[in-house]
Amino acid sequence: MRRSVFHGTRPIPVGRRAGSLVEDCEPETIVLGPSGRECRPSLRRKRKRGKAAPVIPNVAVPMREGLPQNLPTERLNAPRGRCGRTARPSGERMTTTILVATVKGGSGKTTISTNLAAALAQDGGRVLLADLDRQRSSTEWLGRRPSDAAAIEGVEWMREIGRPAPEIDFTILDAPAALKTKQIEEIVTFVDRIIVPVAPSAIDEAATLRFIRKLDDIRSVAKGKKPVGVVGNRVRTGTRSAQRLAEFLGQTGHPSIARIRDSQAYLDVVDAGLGIFDQPGSRYAPLKEDWWPLLEFARVG
Ligand SMILES: Nc1ncnc2c1ncn2[C@@H]1O[C@H](COP(=O)(O)OP(=O)(O)O)[C@@H](O)[C@H]1O
Ligand SMILES: [Mg+2]
Repeated sequence: MRRSVFHGTRPIPVGRRAGSLVEDCEPETIVLGPSGRECRPSLRRKRKRGKAAPVIPNVAVPMREGLPQNLPTERLNAPRGRCGRTARPSGERMTTTILVATVKGGSGKTTISTNLAAALAQDGGRVLLADLDRQRSSTEWLGRRPSDAAAIEGVEWMREIGRPAPEIDFTILDAPAALKTKQIEEIVTFVDRIIVPVAPSAIDEAATLRFIRKLDDIRSVAKGKKPVGVVGNRVRTGTRSAQRLAEFLGQTGHPSIARIRDSQAYLDVVDAGLGIFDQPGSRYAPLKEDWWPLLEFARVG
């Protein structure tokens, strides 16, 4: 299997997909995705239409050591399988499309898009990261991604925005700050959920609220058909700005689905083409906890 970067609509292989690693997993290990669910290689193989699913050894936890302490128990008890994979009653597969957007630059759209893509790919999903921003930050991040990391496919949709393909499990759209109202309306017609990041600053909060009100003017959003989740990003607990952000998050009219702390770790992983879910180790465990509700939102809305 291979990793691809799409340019336009044509995939160009750039490396090896991590799927072959499934065969290397030892039978007495369990593999945890970001959801905290147990994914045995044999079960995953059956689930993926007979194909090997990407499994990365660095999240394999020996069974005798038990499950990590910090995983919410309701997730461990949830039914197995890649949750959130939408299917029509006919059984036909459908992609889940998530737009990450706001009007402010630097609020964390690319950080959330890339880390979300890495988390869902780590969990065995086939993920397409669509870069809508001429700055090409997501595309460059994908270009740096090591060939043995969980595979993520990429596409640049800057001039013309394409449509997600049904064989992809999750399509994540990393939007530019300068989206016009018409473009937002068009994109919202085919997305399933919208994530709006906001950094703790009075200016960012005011601009974000204006953006959210624009979204609210779209009928499908107003009717609740396109859930909007607001994410506080670069949060420094205990600061006055974090306190104000918390108040802001309670006033948007949409659920606040995560508060992601400010951490140097995000800068470290982005340089390596990785997300925090690609990384094992105790340094990343508390950071991952910030993401559980966001991942839940991405999967089930
Ligand atoms: N939670 C975080 N902790 C630390 N740095 C962050 C965090 N989120 C974003 N950053 C950094 O802030 C800068 C802007 O983030 P980015 O995701 O590129 O924003 P946007 O795509 O909205 O312009 C980047 O350098 C990024 O690494
Ligand atoms: Mg960006």
